[in-house]
Amino acid sequence: MKTQSKRGGPAFTRRDFLKTGGAIVGGMAAGTSRGQAKGEALAVAGGSPAVTLPAKERAAIFKWPPYGDAEKRALVEAIESNSTDIYDFNARLEEKWKAFNGVPFCKSHMNGTSALTSMYFALTRELPPGTEIMVPSYTFFGAILPMRFFGFVPVFVDIDPRTATLSVEHARKAITPKCRAIMAMHSWGLPCEMDKINDFAKERGLIVLEDCAHAHGASMQGKPVGNWGRMGIYSFQATKPLPGIEGGMGVYQDREDFERAAAFGHYEVCGKYIAGSPYAANALSSESAYRKYQGTGLGMKLRMHPLAAVLLLSQMEKLGAQNATINGQVRRLNDRICQLPGLSEPVCRKDQERVYYNSNLIFLDEAKAGASRAAVIRALAAEGVSVGAGNYPENHKFAVYSEPEWWHHAPDVPKVLPGCEEVNARAMNVALFRKDCPELVEQYARAFEKVWAHRDALPKS
Ligand SMILES: Cc1ncc(COP(=O)(O)O)c(C=O)c1O
Repeated sequence: MKTQSKRGGPAFTRRDFLKTGGAIVGGMAAGTSRGQAKGEALAVAGGSPAVTLPAKERAAIFKWPPYGDAEKRALVEAIESNSTDIYDFNARLEEKWKAFNGVPFCKSHMNGTSALTSMYFALTRELPPGTEIMVPSYTFFGAILPMRFFGFVPVFVDIDPRTATLSVEHARKAITPKCRAIMAMHSWGLPCEMDKINDFAKERGLIVLEDCAHAHGASMQGKPVGNWGRMGIYSFQATKPLPGIEGGMGVYQDREDFERAAAFGHYEVCGKYIAGSPYAANALSSESAYRKYQGTGLGMKLRMHPLAAVLLLSQMEKLGAQNATINGQVRRLNDRICQLPGLSEPVCRKDQERVYYNSNLIFLDEAKAGASRAAVIRALAAEGVSVGAGNYPENHKFAVYSEPEWWHHAPDVPKVLPGCEEVNARAMNVALFRKDCPELVEQYARAFEKVWAHRDALPKS
């Protein structure tokens, strides 16, 4: 009989399980929940699933984006206002973002990729075509490919397998004489070790850029991400911690970077909000060298859809509480399951305040666990745990980087980046609980403990 995985993945048969000696295991360690778990048959072998909360209730806990009546009302009001001033929502969002993120300058964009493109354009004020920029290979393509339009060339940096964020040790080895900037990406909401990156950058004369697409509300040593580098970006795409369905934000420490990035894709900010507007701070001052481009910008139209700004203004009210709820659930679950042999989570330093994007990333060391990732995932899924194998892009493996015609000069494409390989071989993405639900946390913890109690019987490869 086939046991269906919850994700519709390949099923683990009861016969496979029995073949490996995995019938109900007796011998309980009396009194402990792990001992009790050992006395129960795994769901994958015909036992009862550990997760019993009804599917509808679970779906409500996992639901994202968390739009409700407040967002619907705000959207209807904005639409009914039927006014060209509707773009003021963008300016309002920018003001709110500056207050929240602590950045001196920001500009809203239609998505994170357009904010990245504008950021690379801003760098052309001092970096000539042919300049190399260090980037983590473990990222979204939109963080790297837009640099092509300005003749920049990526140098792929590995990630630290303990954190899944940029490895400064590898950056030291990968740097070339043409490198003038380095990009940090705060993977899954965990800040990079920005103190180490900034020390390295200072030593080697590099401009620091931050991709904060996963990390709305994260900080290190009390300083929010987006403030450690000279420029950075956020994405507000629907899955992100702050979702606007689509949307992005560029953040800048330097006025001229802001003005140049803004003028690239915003033909009205060069002057529109100056006269009589409460949002003059996000327009270009009368002294700006870019003010004369009012009416044309510099050729792109990358403005955020104002209804995305409406959604985001409403969502921002809840961001802090939402992050705290998710963190609380993750802590309760991980403090328990990371006691199990072979399971761990990305290392978060004491001086880092992380958030969670997309999933609760758990590392599985198959040798220590004594079972394969595929088998563990199948067994957990049968217990009712929403979990899958993590496999995030390693950009250096994509065709576009190996074809010289797309680049000022051919990028040096590494064959293997061991940190990326290790993270992708070990990653398990456990669903994030977006609402407080101790009952489901308990059921998930018990599901892991139950699978671990039987792990000797699971396939090793
Ligand atoms: C790390 C990273 N950078 C940049 C982006 C680009 O953002 P957007 O999808 O809003 O263009 C994403 C989107 O997923 C991302 O994950």
